[in-house]
Amino acid sequence: MRDARQLLADSARVVAMTGAGISAESGVPTFRGDGGLWRNYRPEDLATIGAFRRDPETVWEWYAWRRSFLATCEPNDGHRALARFFLQRGTAGLVTQNVDGLHTRAARDAAGEGAPHAALPVEMHGAIARDRCNDCGTRAEAEPLGDSLPRCATCGGLRRPDVVLFGEMLDPVVLDRAQSMAERADLCLVIGTSAVVYPAAAIPLATLHAGGRIIEVNTEDTALTGVAAVALRGPAGVVLPELLG
Ligand code: APR
Repeated sequence: MRDARQLLADSARVVAMTGAGISAESGVPTFRGDGGLWRNYRPEDLATIGAFRRDPETVWEWYAWRRSFLATCEPNDGHRALARFFLQRGTAGLVTQNVDGLHTRAARDAAGEGAPHAALPVEMHGAIARDRCNDCGTRAEAEPLGDSLPRCATCGGLRRPDVVLFGEMLDPVVLDRAQSMAERADLCLVIGTSAVVYPAAAIPLATLHAGGRIIEVNTEDTALTGVAAVALRGPAGVVLPELLG
């Protein structure tokens, strides 16, 4: 922890990239660990664009269940420590793979509705609390699922949760923003991700290839552990407040 705090003190531009592990202590299941969602469900049945085209009702039921579950979850000490850090340091910024909206809630709790951009996350995989038209792309606030599937008010197309499904490309504007944040950073905090899903997993490597360093916060080793300058083992909700103050 001493080495990590020294690295942080010596860094001018810090970027953080988070995964499902940072929300585990909020009660949100991860995807690949014990009890992870993909241990109990088949992603190809629920979280792919093919599944949505084949069986939109089932995919909508799955996301409606996840939305109702997430409504009972609160940001934890890890989200809050990151929000305070980026409000104070306002450096390179926060990138997340999570769609649960907990970073945004932590930032708004910390700074009020006008939370500056530096504390709000770049949501690489979208946000489950929003809808998007599968045809014209128009976004809309989510509504409770009714008897018929939600339709776009603009074009009448089928709406779907505004998240990146397997088999879809990420929004190039969002991806470019995340990559340039990582390239400009001299330190990347990689928190609670197994680092196996690309292109998100390449974000910390962009910092490394630009001459920066990586600090990993995880409960276990990952695909990035070997290239991390420091690997802090423990739950993010405990490690981050100690690391970031
Ligand atoms: N604190 C820190 N890390 C934790 C904690 C915790 N309390 N609990 C679990 N972890 C770690 C696990 O060790 C694992 O390395 O979090 C990581 C979770 O990995 P995944 O479940 O694979 O989640 P993630 O890396 O975010 O998945 C990436 O895959 O399914 C897609 O779109 C989905 O965004 C997701 C992407």
